[in-house]
Amino acid sequence: MTDRIQDLFSLAGKTAIVTGGSRGIGEMIAEGFLDAGAAKVIVTARKAEALESTANRLNEKAAEGQTVVAIPGDLGTPEGITAFADAVKADNDAIDILVNNAGAAWGAPFGEYPVDGWDKVMNVNVRSIYFLTEALADHLRGAGTEDDPARVINVGSVDGLRACDIEHYAYSTSKAAVHHLTRQLAKRLKHENVRVNAIAPGPFESNMMAFALRDEEARAAVAADVPVGRIGNPDDMAGLTIFLASKAGAYLTGVVIPVGGGIATA
Ligand SMILES: NC(=O)c1ccc[n+]([C@@H]2O[C@H](COP(=O)([O-])OP(=O)(O)OC[C@H]3O[C@@H](n4cnc5c(N)ncnc54)[C@H](OP(=O)(O)O)[C@@H]3O)[C@@H](O)[C@H]2O)c1
Repeated sequence: MTDRIQDLFSLAGKTAIVTGGSRGIGEMIAEGFLDAGAAKVIVTARKAEALESTANRLNEKAAEGQTVVAIPGDLGTPEGITAFADAVKADNDAIDILVNNAGAAWGAPFGEYPVDGWDKVMNVNVRSIYFLTEALADHLRGAGTEDDPARVINVGSVDGLRACDIEHYAYSTSKAAVHHLTRQLAKRLKHENVRVNAIAPGPFESNMMAFALRDEEARAAVAADVPVGRIGNPDDMAGLTIFLASKAGAYLTGVVIPVGGGIATA
């Protein structure tokens, strides 16, 4: 590989935050960033033990000068967002990459959808993205340069790109909101060396998808519904997010990139 390509895709020296980094897609992204050379990856989630265990696993494979830091917290509440942002700011002067990945889903039939389920999904999936980004904006601005701006990567969903068969009304609506909030924040921060983009995943192995992937028959049906015929894997997730977080992705802002094997696109 030439030095140029190394320079384009390396995250050497970067400090990144991955919310919901204890498992699933967040863990795939955190591990990808570490493999791309990030100096520090901060992960957060509510369940402290699971979060510590993921951070320990990643720290075991970290090279010299790399570290993974676990800061537990609940991003579903304004107090939790402030507490997490304050903890980050206490130890870091600048943040190069913020991945707003933490998310929740709730399925219920039309006519029976609970108000508290609706609020929970919206608060974690949408409200937390806006207020955490706002709380860390000065730290992102402080990290970004014209050549290599700071990055915010929001995790949406293919379910926010098209109406789907699963009855998770707040979830799909929240993901469409994530996509639009991405464009709105990209516009607001465009002159401040902060790029804001979103990814819209199709099915990836995770707790959230366990209901559909645990059983072999259901798993085959999910894969068959994906135009390319398989579910996403950690390399699919790491590849796209490293691109968006690295110098290679510096000229993109306000885009929503589907990573769903052709769902909603082919
Ligand atoms: N897997 C897929 O197929 C798929 C497809 C499209 C989009 N997505 C999106 O990808 C993101 C990650 O989902 P996943 O599939 O990896 O699900 P997951 O395995 O359930 O992981 C969700 C992560 O978010 C954390 N989290 C949930 N609520 C939180 C809160 N209130 N505060 C802080 N952290 C919280 C969880 O940890 P705690 O429970 O300990 O808090 C966990 O680390 C979500 O935004 C999801 O909507 C997933």
